[in-house]
Amino acid sequence: MSAAAPAQQALKGVDLGTSRIVLATLKGETVALKTELNAFVELPYSKMTEQMLLRENILHRVEGDRIYAYGNRADEFAKFLESDARRPMQSGLLNPAEPKNLEMMEALIESLCGRATKGEKVCLSVPSAPAERSPDLIYHERSMLSIFQRLGYEAQAVNEGLAVVYAELKDANFTGIGMSFGGGMCNMCLAYLGLPVLTIATTRAGDYIDASAASVTGETPTTVRLHKENAAESGFGLEATEGSAIDRALSIYYGDTIETAAQALQSALRDSRRLPRFTGPVPVVCAGGTALARAFLPRLRAALAATELPITLGEITLAKDPMSATAKGALVGAMLNM
Ligand SMILES: Nc1ncnc2c1ncn2[C@@H]1O[C@H](COP(=O)(O)OP(=O)(O)OP(=O)(O)O)[C@@H](O)[C@H]1O
Ligand SMILES: [Mg+2]
Repeated sequence: MSAAAPAQQALKGVDLGTSRIVLATLKGETVALKTELNAFVELPYSKMTEQMLLRENILHRVEGDRIYAYGNRADEFAKFLESDARRPMQSGLLNPAEPKNLEMMEALIESLCGRATKGEKVCLSVPSAPAERSPDLIYHERSMLSIFQRLGYEAQAVNEGLAVVYAELKDANFTGIGMSFGGGMCNMCLAYLGLPVLTIATTRAGDYIDASAASVTGETPTTVRLHKENAAESGFGLEATEGSAIDRALSIYYGDTIETAAQALQSALRDSRRLPRFTGPVPVVCAGGTALARAFLPRLRAALAATELPITLGEITLAKDPMSATAKGALVGAMLNM
C-alpha cells in the first residue's frame, strides 16, 4: 500500500437516511459509494435458513430462535413473507415503534462502515427536527454518534440540508439552499459561506407519498413504492395529467409534498430576523430519491415561484446524483470541519 493510502481512507461521510444508509469514501480523486437498505426482517431460526443466508452473503444475525436479515436483501424476504420489512428509522429519526431500532442501526452501520482505523474521522448526516420532535433529534443524534464512537471513530454530525450544499454548491462558495427530498423527510438548509443560517424539515416525503397513495387506492405502500421507483418502465412522471389510479394519487401527494416544503421554506425565511445580505440570487439544489421523479423540478419551480420570499432565488437545479449527494456532502463536511 502506498504511503498516501491510509491518510486518504481516514475520512468517511455517511448519510443515515430513513430508507437507505450511504457511505462515501475517497478513492484517489473519486468518491466511492456503498449503500444498504435501512430495513430488516425477522425469520424463525433454522440451520438451513442460516446456511442459505451465509451462502448468499446476506447480512444477518442470530438471536436465540430468531434470525434477523438486514440491508439490501431485506426487501426480497419481505416480499416472500408477504409483509413489509421493518424499519429502524421513521421520518428521519430512530423509529420509536421499533424495539430493535438501535440494535439494527448498529448492525447496519458496522456492516457498511466497519471499525475505524486509528484516528479515523466520520461525519454523519442528521435531519433537522420538525418543531414537535426536537427532543427526539437530540436522542437520535447522540445515539448515532455513540454507535460510531464505539466503532472507534471520531464522529461529528452535519445537517442533511447543509450536506447537500457542501456536495453541490462549492462553486457558489457554499452559499445557497440545499433541499433533500428523501423517504422520511424533506430537509432544507439555507447556508451562507458554508454556515447554516436556517434548517427546516417537513415529514412529507417518499414514505408519506406511498402511504397516502396506498390509502386512497387500496394498494399496499410497497406496491405503490415499486410502481413509483420504476417510473421509467411504467411511465409515471409528474408531467402527466392522467394515468392509472396510482399515478393520479402519486401526482396529488407529490404535489402536496412539494408545496408543503415550499410553504415551510417561506415561513422560516419570513420569520427569520437574521438573514444575511446576499449579493446575488440564491441558488437552490435538490437531492434525495424523491427528487428523481420525472418533471420533479418544474413542479418545485412552480411551487417556489408561488411563494413570497424575502430573498431572490437563483437557479433551481438537481444534484448530479441525487441519491448520493448527502453522503458526499458529509464527506466534504469531514474534510472541512474535522
Ligand atoms: N426513481 C425514483 N422515483 C421516485 N422516487 C424514488 C425513486 N427512487 C427512490 N425513490 C424514493 O426515494 C425515497 C428514498 O430517498 P433517499 O434514499 O434519498 O431517502 P433517505 O435519505 O433514506 O431518507 P430521509 O433523508 O428522509 O431520512 C423513497 O421514498 C423511495 O421510494
Ligand atoms: Mg436523506
